[in-house]
Amino acid sequence: ALERTLSIIKPDAVAKNVIGQIYTRFEQAGLKVVAAKMKHLSRAEAEGFYAVHRERPFFNALVEFMISGPVMIQVLEGEGAVLKNRELMGATNPKEAAPGTIRADFADSIDANAVHGSDSLENAAIEIAYFFPATDVYAR
Ligand code: CMP
Repeated sequence: ALERTLSIIKPDAVAKNVIGQIYTRFEQAGLKVVAAKMKHLSRAEAEGFYAVHRERPFFNALVEFMISGPVMIQVLEGEGAVLKNRELMGATNPKEAAPGTIRADFADSIDANAVHGSDSLENAAIEIAYFFPATDVYAR
């Protein structure tokens, strides 16, 4: 089915100047960018986005990292977009990410892991609405 998912290019990958290389991977896999913005998240915005992880031991480090520089946030649309994006990203820990995935090629650690992608269609809808009003998402 045609789906939408939320993708974030994290501060490490923005700093490495690989936004374009990551966008090319989305495009070559048939995912369309239907909304996008660069943003330096506030602490409150990062804490709210990752609220489901609030009790996890890595929460504070995750928030600190996500506010360490600007991120690139986009909505990707395509057939099976949620799973397709997760396949392109590879495992959360780049040491476990399959060769040729975004994290294998651009990530340094489980914290600085280059990209975020929604893990389910349900969370995708929540995450897209967190950053983009419906009027800023362009059906294509
Ligand atoms: P992300 O997909 O953005 O969702 C939560 C993030 O927490 C995850 O990517 C990792 O960058 C980070 N993280 C740090 N430690 C862990 C861990 N042990 N398990 C899962 N995520 C972790």
